[in-house]
Amino acid sequence: MILVYPGSFDPVTNGHLDIIERAACICDKLIVAVGNNESKRPAFTVEERVEMIRESIGERENIEVTSFTGLLADFAKKVGARAVIKGLRAMSDFEYEFQMALLNKKLEPELETLFMMTSVQYSFLSSSAVKEIARNGGCIDGLVPDCIKDRIEGKLTCR
Ligand code: PNS
Repeated sequence: MILVYPGSFDPVTNGHLDIIERAACICDKLIVAVGNNESKRPAFTVEERVEMIRESIGERENIEVTSFTGLLADFAKKVGARAVIKGLRAMSDFEYEFQMALLNKKLEPELETLFMMTSVQYSFLSSSAVKEIARNGGCIDGLVPDCIKDRIEGKLTCR
């Protein structure tokens, strides 16, 4: 079974990686799909976001990292995915994710959405928080993979 794990990943955090690792264990192939939506004004280009995820997970037999434009439902159909998997941190994520799941179901009735609860140590973590901390010179150790820390700080930290 192919699963798609979509997101902005601006940038990828240890919370995302936790979901990636766990989701890859329950499917034949996991496609991590970076949404290329410039209207969200991301801090990192889509190429940078894909690269940072690839660097963080290394070579993995059943994980592919790519980007997509347009509708997630169309992308999932194109790659033959049976379901989309999303991480849930708290009730505050639920309303938005519920709406997205129902919209995607309307667009592509065969496509399921699965939710995986975040591990408790990442329940407070978000890409926006990482960016805010880095922009203000705070320490992002333990929030993002070590191998991309310098890259994030280099791009965001005010000097
Ligand atoms: O990590 P995020 O920011 O919640 O990820 C959002 C993403 C990329 C999964 C979402 O914006 C998305 O699915 N974009 C594609 C457009 C789409 O299909 N929207 C749903 C129907 S309105």
